[in-house]
Amino acid sequence: MATRCHPGRKTGFGVIQIGAGNPDSVKTELAPPLPDFVCQGLERIAPTEENIVFTTHSSDDNRSTAWTHLADENATLSTGEGLAQALPPRLTIYLQGDLGAGKTTLTRGLLRGLGYSGRVKSPTYTLVESYKDSRIAVYHFDFYRFTHAEEFLEAGLDECFEGDGVRLVEWAERAMPFLPPADLEIILRVAPGGGRELHWNARSEEGRTCLKRLHTLSHPGGN
Ligand SMILES: Nc1ncnc2c1ncn2[C@@H]1O[C@H](COP(=O)(O)OP(=O)(O)OP(=O)(O)O)[C@@H](O)[C@H]1O
Ligand SMILES: [Mg+2]
Repeated sequence: MATRCHPGRKTGFGVIQIGAGNPDSVKTELAPPLPDFVCQGLERIAPTEENIVFTTHSSDDNRSTAWTHLADENATLSTGEGLAQALPPRLTIYLQGDLGAGKTTLTRGLLRGLGYSGRVKSPTYTLVESYKDSRIAVYHFDFYRFTHAEEFLEAGLDECFEGDGVRLVEWAERAMPFLPPADLEIILRVAPGGGRELHWNARSEEGRTCLKRLHTLSHPGGN
């Protein structure tokens, strides 16, 4: 389904086309290496600090959660690249974390994983940057500068959530209660010993499927 979001119409949003017409773009055919997942109750695989620990709760709160330690910026980028391989055609992701936690860096990796090799600007001033790709459209939002949540509706951003595409939202809480709910919540924190801690919380069936796919991609042998 075609999105009815028209970035630029109301607030001067950035729009970037991936693929034809962009000589800098390179399509990625192969999945990048992913940190290993470790399932609760299963044998720990190649235990390193970069392992993703994957835990599924289906009986109590019906949510899936996981976490990983990202030792440096490259780990954040490669995790974003890995997430790109697990995306369904439509997903809303809240990127939670303080200033400088790594939210835009993760988005940069995700776009790289989708084949985009151009510059990924923070949407702090434009509110949204849009990336159109033959496989999937990406909308990257940053609501840090909102003074009131109604700005979300005033800017017509609700239209950006219609139709297929992946929406990544920084500072989602500043657009509440108008923002559509997350399928996947990603929380980034500065780790006490350096790097970042990343926590994944699936909030819908689509989010759970995405996390499971990420797990499968990192363990093609089925571990
Ligand atoms: N795993 C990591 N370890 C150490 N530094 C990292 C890691 N991931 C990203 N960074 C660094 O954190 C800095 C801030 O990253 P980024 O701009 O992505 O943060 P942000 O969460 O989007 O911030 P803001 O809320 O201001 O938009 C960058 O210098 C980036 O290189
Ligand atoms: Mg940012």
